[in-house]
Amino acid sequence: MSVELSMLVAHVPRICHEDQVADFQKPMVSAMHKVSEELFETKPDVVIMISCHFTATFHHYVNCSSVHKGELTAVECPDLIADVPYNFQGDPSLAEQLVQAGKGAGLPILAFNDTSYVWDYGTLVPMRYLVPKENVPVIDLSVCWAASLDETFEWGRNVGKTLKESSKRAVFVSSGALSHNLVRGPEKMPTSSEQALDKQFTDYLLSGRLDAAREMLPQYAKIAGVESGGRHLAMLLGVMEGSGNYKAKFHGYVQSSGSGNAIITFEPLAG
Ligand SMILES: [Fe+2]
Repeated sequence: MSVELSMLVAHVPRICHEDQVADFQKPMVSAMHKVSEELFETKPDVVIMISCHFTATFHHYVNCSSVHKGELTAVECPDLIADVPYNFQGDPSLAEQLVQAGKGAGLPILAFNDTSYVWDYGTLVPMRYLVPKENVPVIDLSVCWAASLDETFEWGRNVGKTLKESSKRAVFVSSGALSHNLVRGPEKMPTSSEQALDKQFTDYLLSGRLDAAREMLPQYAKIAGVESGGRHLAMLLGVMEGSGNYKAKFHGYVQSSGSGNAIITFEPLAG
């Protein structure tokens, strides 16, 4: 069918449990619920998610498991995320198609299939909001530190093309922040310079100027310390490249410990 919807979402640990979210981050939670509604309006067969916290060194990993089941205690913040259970289906056949597409393009893509593998919180936290009943299959993807932004974009392009040619109705999710020079103090905003850069990048996304966003990304990622070096954004841009015109919807921009977290959906337009 196609990529029915793409999105950029937040995964900050402090929203893992909705009943514990501080007032200043409640707009983030509201945005995540809105985005979930949009996701279900597309009647998706599968969600493909790249997470800044699934950090691979040399390869781009694709989780080809038929079931994603476990309990997560986050290494980075076991006080905030402890023993959080999840149980989603996977989509091994589509996952394998993604792997073959990437390999066919000469990219270092690796499939894995291990029922003892436990998700990272960058995958789990958004999934708790996006698919709260755990009733849509998921394929989770890593970021790869050895990969340049260009290589990551190329991987995204191949993922987007494969999804477009698939018979499945797919939603692509990029899980990560914009500016990400973290400081102590959950309520702290990014600096005014970082906010200005985030705004420019976001404006490019919202106005459909993907080429300008891509051109800006390398320098922006360095200056603003964009999460995962901007790889999750390069991937998103790659996936969207082939989808033609789309309608972008801005759902919010909320801080967390000096990071800027934009929540945006991109709905491809017909034609
Ligand atoms: Fe993060």
